[in-house]
Amino acid sequence: MRPTRIKGGRVIDAETGIDGLFDILVEDGTIVKVEKTDAPPPGAKHAGQNPELATPNTALDIIDASGKVVVPGLIDMHTHLREPGHEYKETIQTGCLAAAHGGFSSICCMPNTEPVNDNQSVTDYILRKASTACGVRVYPVGAISKGLRGQSLAEYGEMKAAGVVAVSDDGNPVMDAQLMRRALEYAKGFGLLVISHCEERNLTADGVMNEGATATRLGLAGIPNASETVMVARDIALSELTGARLHIAHVSTEGSVRLIREAKARGLSVTAETAPHYFSLTEEAVINYDTNAKVHPPLRTAKDRDAVREGLADGTIDVIASDHAPHSTVEKDLEFDAAANGLIGLETSLPLSLKLVETGIFSLGNLVAKMSINPARILELNHIGLKVGNPADLTIIDPEKGFQVDANTFRSKSRNTPFNGWRLTGRAMLTMVGGKVVFRGD
Ligand code: DOR
Ligand code: ZN
Repeated sequence: MRPTRIKGGRVIDAETGIDGLFDILVEDGTIVKVEKTDAPPPGAKHAGQNPELATPNTALDIIDASGKVVVPGLIDMHTHLREPGHEYKETIQTGCLAAAHGGFSSICCMPNTEPVNDNQSVTDYILRKASTACGVRVYPVGAISKGLRGQSLAEYGEMKAAGVVAVSDDGNPVMDAQLMRRALEYAKGFGLLVISHCEERNLTADGVMNEGATATRLGLAGIPNASETVMVARDIALSELTGARLHIAHVSTEGSVRLIREAKARGLSVTAETAPHYFSLTEEAVINYDTNAKVHPPLRTAKDRDAVREGLADGTIDVIASDHAPHSTVEKDLEFDAAANGLIGLETSLPLSLKLVETGIFSLGNLVAKMSINPARILELNHIGLKVGNPADLTIIDPEKGFQVDANTFRSKSRNTPFNGWRLTGRAMLTMVGGKVVFRGD
């Protein structure tokens, strides 16, 4: 692989704390130099300050990042690839292409495939398929319980040896508190993170959207906030009991944010994520019975959305994850009650998150923390940020690029997004994984 110089970009890395104009030199897929530079104004001739730039050097590839922002490769710790089992919705290959297109160099894939990833052979299969996909790193998440049935624990030791980075029954809650306690103890023994889908199914009952006046008006059965919040409270208590690390998935309610804030203040091993739809939309998105806005947990009220934003701003919520959940028209072009839950997010997460930067909720440095550094730390990956010696995983963002979301241009196989037609600003222009360019935009 030819050495590459990523030249003149504003490099922001919440891990090393840098924010300024730097060149990054990549050799053999590794970052070998991060050096301060004074980028010449666009169009100017380069001075002799960087020898490689002064003289044409055919042995060096140059990527011009001037006017762009260069950040550590984005990591999505909550993606649903539908392979094995539902390849008509997404394959590992198309999911990885969608990730690269959205600026993600790494993704974690949830185990609710068919068969479920609750054993070594499924984990092996996913990793084998991922190794021949476009180059985006795939970290499988194993199931908490066999078959996601919530009755007996999956094979943690075997899955850990095969390469899972966490366990989760995502899509389903672990309703049995005793099983959840054992899962936390067992996972702790194997050094695995537990990612909890917090939902009390008896409270969800036959609800299909947020409970309240809007649901009543639409004639749809509602899901109360407490459906999520009581399980967040339970799992925090169980994390405290076991001393195990707990990560709360897709936080959507004000109450959950408050409980997590308090758990953190008490020093518990609790981290949390939310997804862009919870800070960008409210239950109003379903008023036209748009099934693309039907998701679990459901979109909530403006009060909840604002609490989620506040949780992101004050550090209560560590991570922004897409919860990319592809479904085909077969599952979505149905009456609201019957449609599947979930929406795709890999190709809109970054611009929707940049909107929070634009509106002053948090800084670009915070965005990098929530979309790369914190996920890497929570997943205990052995390379974090743009440090010399790390694999060259990075994303070049054009923060000023305005565009209209057009689901037909997505690399994902599915089109179930409620953001189609939205005008957004800022997107990934290049995604690099281990020195290899896996996506380049124009
Ligand atoms: O809306 C959702 N869709 N929520 C989940 O927890 C699972 C996901 C899926 O797999 O489709
Ligand atoms: Zn999910």
